[in-house]
Amino acid sequence: MGQKKWLILLVFMCLFTFSCARELRVKRHHSPQVYNHTLATILVEYASAVYMSDLTELFTWTCSRCDGLTKGFEIIELVVDVQHCLQGFLGVAKDLNAIVIAFRGTQEHSIQNWIEDLFWKQLDINYPGMSDAMVHHGFYSAYHNTTIRPAIINAVERAKDFYGDLNIMVTGHSMGGAMAAFCGLDLTVNLGIQNVQVMTFGQPRIGNAAFASYYTQLVPNTFRVTNDHDIVPHLPPYYSYFPQKTYHHFPREVWLYHIGLGSLIYEVEKICDGSGEDPSCSRSVTGNSVSDHLVYFGVRMGCNEWTPCRIVMDPRVAEYGKTDLKGNFILSRPPAASILKLRTDSDAAGNHF
Ligand SMILES: *[C@@H]1O[C@H](CO)[C@@H](O)[C@H](O)[C@H]1NC(C)=O
Ligand SMILES: *[C@@H]1O[C@H](CO)[C@@H](O)[C@H](O)[C@H]1NC(C)=O
Repeated sequence: MGQKKWLILLVFMCLFTFSCARELRVKRHHSPQVYNHTLATILVEYASAVYMSDLTELFTWTCSRCDGLTKGFEIIELVVDVQHCLQGFLGVAKDLNAIVIAFRGTQEHSIQNWIEDLFWKQLDINYPGMSDAMVHHGFYSAYHNTTIRPAIINAVERAKDFYGDLNIMVTGHSMGGAMAAFCGLDLTVNLGIQNVQVMTFGQPRIGNAAFASYYTQLVPNTFRVTNDHDIVPHLPPYYSYFPQKTYHHFPREVWLYHIGLGSLIYEVEKICDGSGEDPSCSRSVTGNSVSDHLVYFGVRMGCNEWTPCRIVMDPRVAEYGKTDLKGNFILSRPPAASILKLRTDSDAAGNHF
């Protein structure tokens, strides 16, 4: 009995060592960019926090998801595009010595409806300035044709003026991951910023092979984390028999999956090949899980409930904000400005009631 257990353990240790060794070799062979697991577990918390709808708690970084590995984050800009139900923030993470930008996509309908729609997304516009590069109009314009982009660009410039040349890390989950990719590309191409990293979680495909190839040359420091049977990275579909006409992921995928039996289960992180469509990563399994889409590294993604887009805000943070004619909303403050006063005030107010 005991002997058998040891044998199983030994087999798994061998498997584990083997897969690690193989990943290391692939990494050195194809890519100068090294995947950093610790960084992934930090950025996933930012991608989770951006779903919070209480803007006061988000702006003062006191929300229930604003704890843990993101403690001490200083938000400079928080933008809510009410029209399109999008949200993003930018701030400085001193411990990472970086500007962190995170996006949240639409939550207007149930996640099931949103996922069903993904099957039918066409490659319907040309990415400007890149011949043959096609992307999906809806993903593209969520970042490029809403209040999100001008707010983020403005905040990047303010943060860089104040802090100098920090690294920029862009992240997002699901549709927010698609926006993160467009943002990373935009900062590189249109603002000429060199040190941009992108890390997305459960991101759908956003463009064709030509787009993927431009993208990876321009933003090589990109990792696209996928989780087990998460359905979203499988969408919109990749048709291997129409390689030129189909959606195509950019590299580099990092696939999280589980091996084991009974109580001996390991989470394995597989660094995939440089093609973007490594057949031995998430494509080796059926994408049939919504629940795998909603938890990454044990962190809950998505909203607590799929409510219509709404803004929850304390009037006290309103002085930091401005609203446009369509009701879109930007909260903004100078880098390194203290918001301690605001927190004390609301705590005091809370005690009164
Ligand atoms: C990985 O990222 C963490 C957090 O930014 C950092 O402290 C650590 O040095 C990085 N590791 C490597 C090998 O770059
Ligand atoms: C941007 O949005 C406006 C209004 O929603 C629309 O009329 C215009 O066609 C869009 N432009 C692009 C390039 O998507």
